[in-house]
Amino acid sequence: MAKIGILGGTFHPIHNGHLYIAKQALAAFGFDELWIMPAGLPPHKMLEGAISRVQRLKLCEAAIEGESAMRIIPDEIFKTTTSYTYETLTEFHKKYPKHQFSFIIGEDSLDSFDSWVHPEIICQYADIVVAVRNDANRDYHSLEARAKELSEKFDATFSIIPSENVPISSTMLRKMLSEGEDVSAYIPPKAYAYIKEHRLYQKTMEDDVKLRKEICEDLKKNLKTSRFEHTMGVTYTACALAMRYQYSMNKARLAGLLHDWAKYLSDDEQLAYCKKHGIAVTKAEEQAPYLLHAKIGAYIAKEKYEIDDEDIYHAILVHTTGAPKMNLLDKILFTADYIEPNRKDAPRLEDIRMMAFENLDTAVLMILEDSIQYIKDTKRPMDPTTMETYEYYKEQLNKE
Ligand SMILES: [Fe+2]
Ligand SMILES: [Fe+2]
Repeated sequence: MAKIGILGGTFHPIHNGHLYIAKQALAAFGFDELWIMPAGLPPHKMLEGAISRVQRLKLCEAAIEGESAMRIIPDEIFKTTTSYTYETLTEFHKKYPKHQFSFIIGEDSLDSFDSWVHPEIICQYADIVVAVRNDANRDYHSLEARAKELSEKFDATFSIIPSENVPISSTMLRKMLSEGEDVSAYIPPKAYAYIKEHRLYQKTMEDDVKLRKEICEDLKKNLKTSRFEHTMGVTYTACALAMRYQYSMNKARLAGLLHDWAKYLSDDEQLAYCKKHGIAVTKAEEQAPYLLHAKIGAYIAKEKYEIDDEDIYHAILVHTTGAPKMNLLDKILFTADYIEPNRKDAPRLEDIRMMAFENLDTAVLMILEDSIQYIKDTKRPMDPTTMETYEYYKEQLNKE
């Protein structure tokens, strides 16, 4: 039976504090391996900054080069939906029935551990190791009491290990890097070299403004006035929803701007565009080629505007039909597209507008209900994904 320690986090970017915890845990618990598992889209933190998932993963790999007991686990990073620890641990338990897992959390997570999704399942599949910052002023008694309380509540092992009081966080590092500061003291050398080589975290605000201006000029040139106004309505509504749900406004704005980029193309032109650029066309899309503008929009974001962001591609990709298990940006764009201020004549529009800022999932379900009704009434072809999405959200909301 192999003993595995798992250190999760966004690692955005990975730094010496993370490596210190990993090494401490390896030494203190005699793990056979220490797995560093970067998160895809963690429930409590959204990612900002000009860096892709692949690059974040590469940074982690560079950081642990030469550490023979450490491994980077990419199971969560490419998920487009929220990755919950209990789900990952359940999967690991199935995949590696002979491994014994310990899950490492920070001391801040000790307070909120009860409110994680299914803490009892987490405890069922892993022992918990709490990394506590070394600090003379720390009240270890209350930390230990809290660990004891949780271990009794969940009938689990909670162990505390000291970690270095690193005076730096990933947030600080991102800021310093964006200002061109030298942070080589805080990031493992190979990872730092990778950051430098790829100019990660160094995109400036001016670059973003320039990109948005370029997109807007293209949109103005190509789209009909009403479509351009719709696009702007969607963009601002997506920004408002991003504010409401604490999401990256920049990402919401880019998704909004590009979602209907290809709408000026006729059905035949869209089919031809997909053929020319190797974009796969489904049966449903062949019957209703206007659906293809979503795929073309995602393609344009990547290839024409060189936006390096899987979440933006995905949100544009699913904006017409929705998709089961949409992530937050998917839902923001899907909803903004329906409720933007220029939209008229949809039943329950005012209710859905209000609901969007109260409960996004409910708003999504209402939009799907009304869209399906509309498709039926007008005898249009329906993409099966629309119905699957509807069934998924109906079931989700019934469960609650
Ligand atoms: Fe659209
Ligand atoms: Fe739209």
